[in-house]
Amino acid sequence: MTRVGTPSSGRVVFRSPEFSCVNCHVAEGVGKDIGPGLSEIGKKLGKDALYDAILNPSSGISFDYEGWNLTLNSGDELTGIVLSRTETHWTLKNLLGQIQEIPLSEVFEKQKMSTSLMPNGLGLLLGEEKLVDLVSYLSTLGK
Ligand code: HEC
Repeated sequence: MTRVGTPSSGRVVFRSPEFSCVNCHVAEGVGKDIGPGLSEIGKKLGKDALYDAILNPSSGISFDYEGWNLTLNSGDELTGIVLSRTETHWTLKNLLGQIQEIPLSEVFEKQKMSTSLMPNGLGLLLGEEKLVDLVSYLSTLGK
């Protein structure tokens, strides 16, 4: 990728409902707090790592943000991030941001997902130009 990208256009892409970043991430106070906050991401990840995080979300899943699938005794299935665990309960946040306390006595099976909760294929949806703008925007955050 040789294009430099325009951060202000990348901000528009980030906030656009079409690409759904703000369904799961907060940056500059905008978005939902489900995946990691991105307000300082430009300090943490260089551009190559940002491309990788967007194009291959499952290649390096951030600690504490692994997805879990829980099957309840009732047969219901729940998916989300585990916020806390006690001996009797797990607290799960689902992809809508809803927080649920689940008694372990109701859980039939718990399985850590091998893939990220972040959708695959965002790179294809974005296309090269928007992807480059988006990465140039993210790389400015926290600097
Ligand atoms: C359905 C929720 C969801 C959507 C939509 C989503 N993400 Fe993510 N994202 C996550 C989760 C959960 C993680 C942490 C797990 C992982 O590393 O894969 C993550 C990780 C990341 C990371 C790495 C953060 C770090 O601290 O290492 C970046 C960067 C990122 N997402 C950017 C984006 C961008 C840009 C978009 C929109 C094109 C997007 N995400 C859409 C859920 C989502």
